[in-house]
Amino acid sequence: MTVPPSQGKVILFGEHAVVFGRPAVGLGLPGAMVVERLRPLADHVKLCLPAWNFDGCCCHPGLLGKVLHRLFELLPGRRLGMELSVHSRIPPGAGLGSSAALAVLLVRALARVRGLELDLAEQRRLAHVLEEIFHGRPSGLDDTLACFGGVCLFRRREWSKPLPALPVPARRLSAQALGLECRLPEMVVGYTGREHQTRHMVELVRRRRQRQPQETEVLFAEMERCLWWGLDSLCAGRWAELGLALNSNQQLLELLGVSSPEIASLVQLARRHGALGAKLTGAGGGGAVVALAPGNQREVARAWSRAGHRTWYLDGADDWRMAV
Ligand code: PMV
Repeated sequence: MTVPPSQGKVILFGEHAVVFGRPAVGLGLPGAMVVERLRPLADHVKLCLPAWNFDGCCCHPGLLGKVLHRLFELLPGRRLGMELSVHSRIPPGAGLGSSAALAVLLVRALARVRGLELDLAEQRRLAHVLEEIFHGRPSGLDDTLACFGGVCLFRRREWSKPLPALPVPARRLSAQALGLECRLPEMVVGYTGREHQTRHMVELVRRRRQRQPQETEVLFAEMERCLWWGLDSLCAGRWAELGLALNSNQQLLELLGVSSPEIASLVQLARRHGALGAKLTGAGGGGAVVALAPGNQREVARAWSRAGHRTWYLDGADDWRMAV
């Protein structure tokens, strides 16, 4: 039984602000999670996921048990379950969208077992319900990228019609997501090694916004400004300018309070080794850093690897691999 792999993701602009209605830009990491074995089971779901140290079923007392239980009830059709084992190329809690990748893969696998033909939009809608168990009230950006991949401009509310004027051709993936046709420069992603809890980081920002509504909205507005500036530069291939936009976004994330000493150290290392820009990607507080390094990918990857960080090369939207 073959199941299409799901994608991981890297957010270039707009994390956190997207939760409060601002746009975000992210890209998919194809083949991040793959089903290795799948067979139908009569009445429950059993998952083996070594990357998460998980081998259990829907009666497991933790979060994953809850997700598997919800999945069984959520999908329409015959009440068939499944046993599956999943290989993940991305670590959990790194800001690379592993929970969304898992949610999409679980939906695809059980749909296959139950003989359901679900289109991508429906797969995403169902995966979002599972993401809510993982993260509370996620924006939907991660499950959109896990499902559709590519380069995506997303926001929580529907895009109005006509669509905003964009510097490249765009196609509507869903009410909230537009797929952009643009060429990506060489980038590198490095993992701080510190797992983060998206739910906790989002709650931190929510409380800050409650305490300081005006200041926080100014930061979000500035993040949106970086996004449109960065998107223009990305589409026109003006890498130096894109680097500046990424750096400005990192500064704003620091002011928001979601950076960390580990993130700051990866960002500095990348810039010292020739990156044009670097910022945290995802919820922050640990997790991963993305660096724009056209022509310097190897130098940045080597510097991060030497400092003991897992590192990936991103060569465009459909090619990425681990640096060894
Ligand atoms: O760190 P991740 O991969 O869970 O990304 C979270 C992105 C946020 O904008 C912080 C939350 C969200 O729901 O979009």
